Amino acid sequence: MTPTPKPADHFSFGLWTVGWQARDPFGDATRPPLDPVESVHRLAELGAWGVTFHDDDLIPFGSDDGERDKHILRFKEALAETGLVVPMMTTNLFTHPVFKDGGFTSNDRSVRRYAIRKVMRNLDLAADLGASTYVFWGGREGSESDAAKDVRAALDRYREAIDLLAEYVLDRGYGTRFAIEPKPNEPRGDILLPTVGSALAFISTLEHADMVGVNPEVGHEQMANMNFVHSISQALWQGKLFHIDLNGQRGAKFDQDLIFGHGDLLSAFFLVDLLENGGPSGAPAYDGPRHFDYKPLRTDGVDGVWESARANMVTYLVLKERAAAFRADPEVQQALSAARVAELAQPSVAPGEGYKGLLGDRSSYEDFDVEAAASRSYGFVRLSQLAVEHALGAR
Ligand code: GCO
Ligand code: MN
Ligand code: MN
Repeated sequence: MTPTPKPADHFSFGLWTVGWQARDPFGDATRPPLDPVESVHRLAELGAWGVTFHDDDLIPFGSDDGERDKHILRFKEALAETGLVVPMMTTNLFTHPVFKDGGFTSNDRSVRRYAIRKVMRNLDLAADLGASTYVFWGGREGSESDAAKDVRAALDRYREAIDLLAEYVLDRGYGTRFAIEPKPNEPRGDILLPTVGSALAFISTLEHADMVGVNPEVGHEQMANMNFVHSISQALWQGKLFHIDLNGQRGAKFDQDLIFGHGDLLSAFFLVDLLENGGPSGAPAYDGPRHFDYKPLRTDGVDGVWESARANMVTYLVLKERAAAFRADPEVQQALSAARVAELAQPSVAPGEGYKGLLGDRSSYEDFDVEAAASRSYGFVRLSQLAVEHALGAR
């Protein structure tokens, strides 16, 4: 029996995901446009909790104020009818040709000023709709030629924009938190802040660093050959996992945006275990939205759109069940203890011991039996296989 998604699971979807018409660099759209109001209703029927969007997903670029208000009103009615919430919003700073060299980091100063204004306008709407997280995905912030971009100046401008927008949010009392979404490339040849690590380092230089975190996406980190579970662990460790984009990716290639779990399934299992159970630390680690940023396969019609939306949620819930079974299994507990996994939580030097105490402890060095320690098996194979068997539902 497959589990049924429900609002308490906190699943959310971008309007641009189910609404993707499957236009790609090589081919035209294979599906008709989808009315955001219909998406809200369909997602609610499937058991989702939230919907997210870029300004232009809801309000076509260039709409006048009257049209804008109409789009917002219809959308708000759909939210009220279904009970869906808007946990996150973001800005499209990549589709219109004006952003061809980026938004915040375009060489053209007038484009940068326009980009910041576009975000400010949408931040007002985010506050109005109660979106507590605002995502910054800088897909066009980057370059194809190292001759054409002064990266240090670009980072100055990136920081300037985020600092300014943070000040705006604080002055208005919106309470919105920002989440930067890293990606190594696509659409730019090389994108600034390519990985979670780069984004975390950048955030530490910001004026209001405390209100800025990351929105890592499974596929983006894997495009850069990173271990997503490690990246998420570090973001959690730094208190910076403000949001997450779940999807699937098979290796370092173009951004596949597959259904969650349809790429590296074992990594997805450990990710869900980390989010839900805290992984080896054993305490729930993340209580934010479980947000899917994927693309329904281009081969499929509208049926595949809703089938894939459901698939994301069901896969997550199945993995959640598998991860709980893994943690509850006495054989796993035994293997964990043989593998000394919990021992890593013990500080290497006792409280008050300091380096002087360590120097004075002959057993730590002079009398340490290096050969005996080297010959002990950690038993990681057994533990890994137990995880695989649980992930596959074989236990
Ligand atoms: C991508 C990104 C985007 C962002 C979105 C929200 O690779 O296209 O993942 O989908 O998540 O723009 O900021
Ligand atoms: Mn992506
Ligand atoms: Mn994303």
